[in-house]
Amino acid sequence: MMRTILRGRVLTFVSEPQGLDDAASYRYLEDGAVVIADGKIVALEDFSAIDIGDAQVIDHRPHLILPGFIDTHLHYVQSQMIASYAGSLLEWLNSYTFVEEQKFSQQGHAGSVASAFYDELIRNGTTTAVAYCSSHPRSVDAYFAEAEKRNMLMVGGKVMMDRNAPEALCDTAQSSYDDTKMLIARWHGRARGLYAISPRFAITSTPEQMAMARALVAEHPECYVQTHLSENDAEIKFSMELYPDAADYTGIYEDFGILGPKTLIGHCIHLNHRETRVLAETRSVAVFCPTSNLFLGSGLFDRERLMMAGVRIGIATDIGGGTSYSMLRTLDEGYKISQLRGQRLTPFNSFYMMTLGNARALSLEGSIGTIAPGCAADLVVLNANATPAMALRMATVTALYEELFLLQTLGDDRSIAEVYVAGARAKSTLGGL
Ligand code: GUN
Ligand code: ZN
Repeated sequence: MMRTILRGRVLTFVSEPQGLDDAASYRYLEDGAVVIADGKIVALEDFSAIDIGDAQVIDHRPHLILPGFIDTHLHYVQSQMIASYAGSLLEWLNSYTFVEEQKFSQQGHAGSVASAFYDELIRNGTTTAVAYCSSHPRSVDAYFAEAEKRNMLMVGGKVMMDRNAPEALCDTAQSSYDDTKMLIARWHGRARGLYAISPRFAITSTPEQMAMARALVAEHPECYVQTHLSENDAEIKFSMELYPDAADYTGIYEDFGILGPKTLIGHCIHLNHRETRVLAETRSVAVFCPTSNLFLGSGLFDRERLMMAGVRIGIATDIGGGTSYSMLRTLDEGYKISQLRGQRLTPFNSFYMMTLGNARALSLEGSIGTIAPGCAADLVVLNANATPAMALRMATVTALYEELFLLQTLGDDRSIAEVYVAGARAKSTLGGL
């Protein structure tokens, strides 16, 4: 069996850091060896302890090797309307998003945007993502076909939306059920693809469609579920007008049985006490989307409050409401939101969130998000000297946490030196790619 050994400084998490001094929450090897065979990690050891044999050794010193980043919420079909000048959420959706997504009725368009989108993920070190496609099944075909071509573990699904959007984008309760069924059969479990049942949000789904979503979730417990919740005041008000019998916005999804441990819920900013309790009890995941929340002026995610209530948390770019594909940029903005809330987000917690934390949000720990035997060899190699400004600051860095914080604060796609997907090189600054 052909083995590859990546040599470098290796960092991987084993649990959620409880503070800056929690060295038990991670493994850090100053001169480490990640041994890869058949696309999987077979060992992580000190380089001096490894039997090299006939393995190919790739030396990434002095860079840091980490698990590939995971993005738990974004819209690949919004790649060409990121950075659209709008006020707040509903105006942005109506003026740009729902116009742009109509283009995905064209297979050729979906294919070319999917390809560019995956290029961008890889350039930014993201090896797994959870995306919304458009309402058109062919947008889902393009999304998963591209993932298969690149051997990437990707989650996604067709948005279900049957009202309050342009006619050309709307499905019906029945067609959304039928199309989702067909797409699950076609893509869930094929290569590394995993399907997410995706009722967009309460505003764009009739109760009939929400009932179909409930049926799909009950019939396909193997699939993920994704939706949006409590992002913006006008959105909350409109949702409650459309579902007057619900206890609150979360109550809509609760009543239709779509909350649970595989449900990823974007935003979750303005939740009341009951709503946080329901999310905690159902083990649903609240997904923090910092750049999007700032860009659309949606509000400041209260990470500590949700954590104290026992709510599981993920973190994501939310392209194209979000403004960067980079998880480094995303955590930088997440840090600033925490600052405004008077909360501390340590650099270890940031890097935990974009790796093991998000793998746990997807219940995929053990498969991705850590460098450990049996996990996929989905990896990033980080260069903290990638720009002159970074190199200048790096000269005064003396601790690992400082280097991580520098990468988060000043880093972007330029700091991603290399990316491996299932052991194969997908991005390289060493030449050859
Ligand atoms: N709520 C419903 N759809 C969307 C979307 O596409 N982006 C964001 N940020 N919020 C939404
Ligand atoms: Zn979203």
